Amino acid sequence: MSEVSPHAERFSLAGRSALITGASRGLGWEIAKAMAQAGAKVHINGRDGDVLNMRCREMTDAGYEVSPALFDVTDTGAADAWLDAQVELPDILVNNAGLRHRHALEDCPPAAFAHVVEGNLTSAYALARSVAMRLKAVGRSGTIVNITSIAGPRARPGDAAYTAAKGGLEALTRSLAVELAPDGFRCNAIAPGYFATEANAPWVDDAGVKKFVAARIPFKRWGRPDEIAGAAVFLASDAASYINGHVLVIDAGMTINF
Ligand SMILES: NC(=O)c1ccc[n+]([C@@H]2O[C@H](COP(=O)([O-])OP(=O)(O)OC[C@H]3O[C@@H](n4cnc5c(N)ncnc54)[C@H](OP(=O)(O)O)[C@@H]3O)[C@@H](O)[C@H]2O)c1
Repeated sequence: MSEVSPHAERFSLAGRSALITGASRGLGWEIAKAMAQAGAKVHINGRDGDVLNMRCREMTDAGYEVSPALFDVTDTGAADAWLDAQVELPDILVNNAGLRHRHALEDCPPAAFAHVVEGNLTSAYALARSVAMRLKAVGRSGTIVNITSIAGPRARPGDAAYTAAKGGLEALTRSLAVELAPDGFRCNAIAPGYFATEANAPWVDDAGVKKFVAARIPFKRWGRPDEIAGAAVFLASDAASYINGHVLVIDAGMTINF
C-alpha cells in the first residue's frame, strides 16, 4: 500500500507569523500578500506610517491578518523595540528592504558606500540576529529569506556599493544557514533579476534598457513584482524543509543566457 504525503499542506504558512521588511510597495508588498494568502499573520515593515496603515487596511478588508511594523531597518534600537513589543515573535523573517545608488568610484566616498552596505546588509544581519536570538531564547526556530540580487555575484561599473552589499548578503545567507541550522532554523535567499517595481520605473521605458531586455532576458520582458512571491512562500514553508543556504535566482534565465 502506498503512503500518500500531504504535500499541498506543506506549502501552507498557517499558524506562522512573518515580518517582511520594506513591504509597503514593490517586491516586499507582493511577498506580504502572498504570505498572508498562504495563511501567515504578516507584519508589514516600512518607514512611512500612513502608507503602512493604508496597506494594512487593504489586507484587513480582504480578510487577512496583518499589522504595521513601523521602523527603519537601519535603526537597530527601533527594530529591537518593535520585536520586544510583540506578544508573538515572527518565525519568518524576510529581509527585503534595500537601497541602491549607482555611482562611479570618484562619486562614491566611503561614507556613501557604508550607507548602502548598512541599508542592504548590516541591517539584515542585525534583524536576523535579533529575531533568531529571541526565538532561540524561548526554544523556537524559524526561517529567514534574504532578498539579494543577481548583481551580488557579478559586477557592472559604477555600482560597487550595491554589488558588495548584495554579494555580502548572499554570503551572510550561507553563514546564517550553517550557524543556525543546529537550532532548527533555515536561511535562504532570493536573487531577483529585472523586476518592474517603482524603484525601477525610470529604467522601464529607457530605450537602451529596452534593447538590453530584448537581447538578454530570454522572456524579453521585465518581471512583474508578483512573480517573486511564490518563491518566498515556498522557501519559508515546510515544503522547503531540506533547503538551506540556497540562493534562488529569479530572472527568467537572464544570467544563464550565454
Ligand atoms: N526590483 C528589482 O528589479 C530588484 C532586483 C534585484 C534586487 N532587488 C531587491 O529587492 C528588494 C526590494 O526591491 P524593490 O524594487 O521592491 O524596492 P522599492 O520599490 O524601492 O521598495 C522598497 C521598500 O523598502 C522600504 N524601505 C526602504 N528603505 C527602508 C528602511 N531603511 N527601513 C524600512 N523600510 C525601508 C520602502 O518603504 P519606505 O520608503 O516607505 O520605507 C519600500 O517599501 C531590495 O532589497 C532590492 O535591492 C530588486
